[in-house]
Amino acid sequence: MIEVRDLQKSYGDLIAVNRVSFSARPGTVFGLLGPNGAGKSTTISCISGLLKPTAGTIRVGGFDLAGDAVKAKSSLGIVPQELAIYEDLSARDNLAYWGAAYGLKGDGLKQRVDHVLNRIGLMDRAGDLPKQYSGGMKRRLNFGCGLVHEPAILLLDEPTVGVDPQSRERLFDLVREEKTKGTCVLYTTHYMEEAEKLCDELAIIDHGKIIAGGTLDELRAEFGGNDIIRLTGSFEASRVEPVIAGLNAGVLSLTPESLMITISEGARVLPAVLQAISATGADIRDTRLSEPNLESLFLKLTGKDLRA
Ligand SMILES: Nc1ncnc2c1ncn2[C@@H]1O[C@H](COP(=O)(O)OP(=O)(O)OP(=O)(O)O)[C@@H](O)[C@H]1O
Ligand SMILES: [Mg+2]
Repeated sequence: MIEVRDLQKSYGDLIAVNRVSFSARPGTVFGLLGPNGAGKSTTISCISGLLKPTAGTIRVGGFDLAGDAVKAKSSLGIVPQELAIYEDLSARDNLAYWGAAYGLKGDGLKQRVDHVLNRIGLMDRAGDLPKQYSGGMKRRLNFGCGLVHEPAILLLDEPTVGVDPQSRERLFDLVREEKTKGTCVLYTTHYMEEAEKLCDELAIIDHGKIIAGGTLDELRAEFGGNDIIRLTGSFEASRVEPVIAGLNAGVLSLTPESLMITISEGARVLPAVLQAISATGADIRDTRLSEPNLESLFLKLTGKDLRA
């Protein structure tokens, strides 16, 4: 449904998107995960036709975006990172506007608007103007506007930033509902939890380049089934590093205040690990053991914290 090949977008000297290729299938959520400035919005804007790529090809719904723009764009629904709602129209009218713009009308339009209003949790405020809304409510309306017309392809650019956890779950349900109907969803986020919860397939992007891709299980396999141990406290690198090497563990990050390692059978070996590290004079204040997640994967691939 979405096919991106060797996409490049430069702003002057800056290469914001650097030879990015991926394809996203119908009935799946494809996640583009990366930190601020990674190139997620630039990629989405190229797919939506808002920005002209510097190089590369994009096919949407089987149509070439450069050659057949109108047909390609007709299957798209877009939830942009910047709010795209009309401040002087009520939530109901905003949704009806976007639904009608894509050809819905009559009872079908009304039913769909009601359904989305319920799902975004704004039914009781449906007649109010967005300027009377909180930031999170505007985000929820922005979200609804992108998918009211049941597009075959949905581009969601960090749609849940600033939305409270409960509303976020409802929006996730709406995404899952669209996916079940066969919609192809492209979802950008820098929250690994979201990507883990929602996405069938992922590409991790950093500095405009895709640095890893696959299903969550495939990405986890990068760790060869190892666990992650995170410690906070105070650590002296020169003393800790040889100890970790002796434990057959790998260092993901080591700062004077924190240490993160990968190791097999983490639960079984944890007491021995703590003892060995304490013996270096380290002061361990907090210990966490987990399976590898996107945070640790990102760290392993880039040497950087995803949240930084
Ligand atoms: N209009 C522009 N002119 C110049 N540089 C830009 C422009 N838009 C984006 N950039 C640069 O391109 C790079 C990618 O930006 P982009 O907005 O695509 O990142 P992002 O992954 O969406 O980040 P975020 O998570 O903060 O939304 C950044 O270095 C950014 O500064
Ligand atoms: Mg962005």
